[in-house]
Amino acid sequence: EASDTRVGDLAGRRVVVTAGGTREPLDPVRFLGNRSSGKQGVAIAEAARERGASVTLIAANLEVARPEGCDIRAVSTALELRDAVREAAVGADVVVMAAAVADYRPAVVSEAKLKKDPGSDDGLTLELVRNPDILAELGREPHDGTLLVGFAAETEPDAERLLELGRAKRRAKGADLLAVNRVGWTAGFAADDNVVTVVDGDDTVVAELHGTKSSVAQGILDVVVSKLAPSS
Ligand code: CTP
Ligand code: CA
Repeated sequence: EASDTRVGDLAGRRVVVTAGGTREPLDPVRFLGNRSSGKQGVAIAEAARERGASVTLIAANLEVARPEGCDIRAVSTALELRDAVREAAVGADVVVMAAAVADYRPAVVSEAKLKKDPGSDDGLTLELVRNPDILAELGREPHDGTLLVGFAAETEPDAERLLELGRAKRRAKGADLLAVNRVGWTAGFAADDNVVTVVDGDDTVVAELHGTKSSVAQGILDVVVSKLAPSS
């Protein structure tokens, strides 16, 4: 059985996984968010733990149960996630950026609950500013000995174009591996199953995975193990 060869193959390794979706506050009661449930990231954290790694899970608003046996750091916004992952990434063997990180946040966070203007029926325009690209930052900095794994959520229906988007994204971010998955109104997020293509630093497709999020997690970790330098 394939699973036998996986027992303990991450022993002695430190793996950091981000999971879930960030929330960017507008005021004390409102936020801009996304539909990521955290299922795929949590499945990767669990699988890495099972395979012997010491796992830090940076958990952003998970809609699934927290896995056992992992060091869990709860965060909410992209800026909090950035601080937590940068701290945890120091000396890590693997960083997996499975979280859906908001690209923008409201320029101003109101201290008081925002009120409608009683004198007008006008709409509301929100000003947003860019969040830092956490994976690209890690990819730009020296990260010898730390394998960087990104995800790309794309709505592109054409498989060949989807793969090209994934390759371009991996290059742009300086990630060592990128797992591309197609998302839609429902596909991808809360679903139990996932379909993922993994590309490596040579633009080669190194895995095509489909099945439960936990079997996809095992497949991604198989690739990770194959790319890790021998442990000292
Ligand atoms: N990511 C990140 N920081 C951000 C946005 C994304 O670290 N501010 C990471 C995600 O965790 C994921 C990868 O970058 O591993 C790709 O995220 P994705 O949203 O697919 O790509 P973007 O680069 O944000 O491009 P776009 O949303 O414009 O397609
Ligand atoms: Ca994005």
